[in-house]
Amino acid sequence: MSASAVDRYAVLGNPIAHSKSPAIHTAFAAQTAQPLSYERIEVPLDAFAARVGELIRAGFRGFNVTVPFKEQAFTLAQHCTPRARAAGAVNTLMATADGLLGDNTDGAGLVADLRRLGAPLAGARVLLLGAGGASRGVILPLRDAGVAELAICNRTADKALTLASEFGTAVQEPASADTPYDVVINATSAGLAGALPPLPAGAVAAHSFAYDMLYGAQPTAFMQHCAALGARTADGLGMLVGQAAESFALWRGVRPDAAPVLEQLRAAMKA
Ligand code: ATR
Repeated sequence: MSASAVDRYAVLGNPIAHSKSPAIHTAFAAQTAQPLSYERIEVPLDAFAARVGELIRAGFRGFNVTVPFKEQAFTLAQHCTPRARAAGAVNTLMATADGLLGDNTDGAGLVADLRRLGAPLAGARVLLLGAGGASRGVILPLRDAGVAELAICNRTADKALTLASEFGTAVQEPASADTPYDVVINATSAGLAGALPPLPAGAVAAHSFAYDMLYGAQPTAFMQHCAALGARTADGLGMLVGQAAESFALWRGVRPDAAPVLEQLRAAMKA
């Protein structure tokens, strides 16, 4: 196959060395027999828009965008999907005849993973911990999945109130909850420092499903805490693969099977 027959994609971030996206998308391409290449590209902090322009002129068809460029990608995109507009952030860019299309597949990746895990969604009471970009990006997709109640809990109360009023959701104060939630999602970055997110007493019970958007070789502090309360737990590796599958589907019009790729990643992480 000549080089020109292969469509080029990349993940853009800074830092980017540890991104799993090339392994995930290369596996999806093999699984679906799509002729594409996928690279990781570290973009200088002050040169996102210029670099994207250069890469498109060089023939790249699309990008995943990660920290710290998701808001800049939202500004740069000429058109955005409703879920990207709701998130105020873009993790997927696609070159089209009408210019750059921006999408945000993080929330869809989360919902797909919760479905795969058999977590309750339709009619469920859901608590979202955190009020930053990670929370903002999943509110609309959780709503679309039919959750009955969505409450936001955050260390800094003002930020929870602002996000909740923007989306018309409830606020849960961090001290204690009257009733346990069906699903509790940790969208804070507290775990990066090994800390627990603000978790109201009584919010997690044995019937709850506790999902951490962070992932690692070992269960996170949040997962360990919730497992000790009897809850089922999962980390965010499946969300990572799920958002990638959704980006791939947007670019290629073919939906890859996330499950075997998730298994490969999990095995590699444990090795
Ligand atoms: P992201 O885009 O990953 O959501 P962010 O916008 O910086 O990043 O938001 C980080 C979230 O994690 C916030 O909800 C933050 O709480 P505050 O609004 O109170 O800062 C939360 N967070 C980070 N570290 C935390 C910690 N040690 N304990 C509790 N919450 C924490």
